[in-house]
Amino acid sequence: MRLLKQGHVRLLLMLTVAVLGLLWMFTLQSCHKTGWDPTYMPRYSWLEYTHADYGRENVYNCSAIVQGEKKALAQAKLLSTTREFSKSVQIPNEYYINATQDCRKFRKSRKYIPFPLSQEEEDFPLAYSIVVHHKVQNFEQLLRAIYAPQNIYCVHVDKKSEASVFSVIRAITSCFPNVFMVSQAVDVVYAAWPRVQADLNCMADLYNASTKWKYFINLCGQDFPLKTNLEIVRMLHSLRGRNSLESERMAETKKWRVSNVHLIVNGEIKGTGKAKEPPPFNLPILSGSAYIVVNRGYVRSVLEDTRIQALIEWSKDTYSPDEFLWATIQRMPGVPGSTWPNHKYDMTDMNAIARLVKWQWHEGSQGSLEAVYPECQGNHVRSVCVYGAGDLQWMLEQHHLFANKFDIDTDPIAVQCLERYLREKALAELHETYGRIFCY
Ligand SMILES: *[C@@H]1O[C@H](CO)[C@@H](O)[C@H](O)[C@H]1NC(C)=O
Ligand SMILES: *[C@@H]1O[C@H](CO)[C@@H](O)[C@H](O)[C@H]1NC(C)=O
Ligand SMILES: *[C@@H]1O[C@H](CO)[C@@H](O)[C@H](O)[C@H]1NC(C)=O
Repeated sequence: MRLLKQGHVRLLLMLTVAVLGLLWMFTLQSCHKTGWDPTYMPRYSWLEYTHADYGRENVYNCSAIVQGEKKALAQAKLLSTTREFSKSVQIPNEYYINATQDCRKFRKSRKYIPFPLSQEEEDFPLAYSIVVHHKVQNFEQLLRAIYAPQNIYCVHVDKKSEASVFSVIRAITSCFPNVFMVSQAVDVVYAAWPRVQADLNCMADLYNASTKWKYFINLCGQDFPLKTNLEIVRMLHSLRGRNSLESERMAETKKWRVSNVHLIVNGEIKGTGKAKEPPPFNLPILSGSAYIVVNRGYVRSVLEDTRIQALIEWSKDTYSPDEFLWATIQRMPGVPGSTWPNHKYDMTDMNAIARLVKWQWHEGSQGSLEAVYPECQGNHVRSVCVYGAGDLQWMLEQHHLFANKFDIDTDPIAVQCLERYLREKALAELHETYGRIFCY
């Protein structure tokens, strides 16, 4: 009996070796002869988004939409104006509350990426600050679009948000070891200091939570990526330590923002008419955006540099400090990744990679030299374009990592086609990187 069993084991071992050998030869041959054929690799089709993920089947064609095909866009536009359709794509808060009770199942059914998609990405973790106050579904679709297990995410929910928004977002974040709620939430007031404080609190938490991450990116709940994580990593790598954010001379018409004392009165910012002292160390105040892409050293300076502490104190009673503080710090000598204050180094929002925003007054018909970008295909909120599906083709040609603003309630198809496009691309890149490992 024992002899027979040993014989069986030996036979099995020989067979296994033979099969493996054959497979190896076959792989090598196909690599040399015909190049890499991705069909030999696991396809990870369970991570692809399908129409079934959106509750409807084959009612619009995303590949035609991202290529800007007129007919598909017209169909999509008609569809997104129907009440039934908008209702069918909405995910209620109750779904999230229920689904997050089983986190494994939630992550799987919402198709969160469960492992680093490449060594390159694993070696280059990112830190995100996300500031949210409503529209939970927008936030969750943003999170799943940028989620990777090697990155870390700090979420700031406005202190005055509805209790339900808090509890749903807390439930979602608690399903991930690398996503957390900010340790100190503030009451955000439009165009006033607390907007900056929200990001500062997340910066401090992220800096303290991990020493590994290389770059910091701040977002709001209505942003969406235009690149895959791998593309973001490669673009940041090629910055070689520099930061990328809007930082340019402040227009005369905006100078009142920093030369008058402002106060928050009944949840709104008000000018007092009192003149402000000049900025500390006579720092030149530059104009920019609330959204930045900066390296870890910039964040360390924000938290520790005494000059910046003084600038922060001075900024607290100005109008819209988010639109000059980061831009000013970016031009302070000694800050890692910064550029010299001379205006030859000015950078516009279109040249920085941090954020693509379509301001209404810069839009124009195609071919117009005055216009910065083609007309918004969605609608405007506070003079900013809320993108429609018709904006996607142009947006995807830009170098920016993220775009603002998206709204699932306005145009769900824009968000869905963008997230499907990015996921398909990420999975295609996965095959490409595996191909390289196996063939070379
Ligand atoms: C969707 O559009 C693409 C690009 O125009 C086209 O190749 C494809 O056949 C279309 N799919 C369907 C199901 O209509
Ligand atoms: C709640 O979640 C469970 C398991 O995750 C699921 O089986 C059930 O159908 C859900 N109920 C509702 C009302 O969504
Ligand atoms: C940093 O994290 C440690 C625990 O890891 C905590 O004890 C400490 O208070 C934190 N510091 C700050 C400034 O948040």
